[in-house]
Amino acid sequence: MATTQVTVFPSAAALAEGVAELFAVRATEAVEERGRFRVALAGGTTPLAAYRRLAAPPWADLVPWGSVEVFFGDERSVGECECERNDAAAREALLLHVPIPPENVHPVPALAPDGARRYEALLRERLSAPAPAVPVLDLVLLGLGEDGHTASLFPGHPAAAETERLVVRVDGAPKEPPSRVTFTLPLLNAARAVVFVVSGREKRAALSRVLAGERRLPAACVEPPDGERLFFLDRAAAGED
Ligand code: 6PG
Repeated sequence: MATTQVTVFPSAAALAEGVAELFAVRATEAVEERGRFRVALAGGTTPLAAYRRLAAPPWADLVPWGSVEVFFGDERSVGECECERNDAAAREALLLHVPIPPENVHPVPALAPDGARRYEALLRERLSAPAPAVPVLDLVLLGLGEDGHTASLFPGHPAAAETERLVVRVDGAPKEPPSRVTFTLPLLNAARAVVFVVSGREKRAALSRVLAGERRLPAACVEPPDGERLFFLDRAAAGED
């Protein structure tokens, strides 16, 4: 059974600080214990403040960047340099400002017709998890949509019901752009820890439904049975302001 922990921060800035600290602490622990820290970054706008905070002292100086491998929980199928890409936003906010070896950052080939299968193969290879094993990420950062989606798993869409594939293509997503590539629940639920980073009053309703276990919402189905499920919230999202 996943262990769930909810942490409410007094502001969006404190939330960003808390996420940066979590990343630095988990990275240090993982490298000490297993020699590597494999993390999947979230897309969207919420985590960008945390990425920028992580790129600065003291957190940036604590992370053993040479032993960190970065993946992306989902990617938008837009042009390589288009600012809409989740990896482009993460590079601008974090990855270009820390000494992570370029080969340790794994963008999703989201425009390629076989991009999902290629990314699944990459994850299996980098995490030494040939089928039928499921790669185990140390930490997965996730956002939350107002409809209860996370990564690019949207309510009622086939990708949210996938039980075998680890990475799939999404077409017709209700959030622009419509075409994406996303981790699926089997991969998310194999993680040692997932952390939902949620900020703002507009997320309050979806968050309540997720915490109540409304399983029609893909975010509510992210519960690593052998891992941690963390909710890092600001007061606005938690309904405390
Ligand atoms: C994306 C994200 C998506 C995002 C949520 C929240 O590609 O947009 O993967 O799941 O995390 O929609 O987005 P905001 O943080 O911008 O509110």
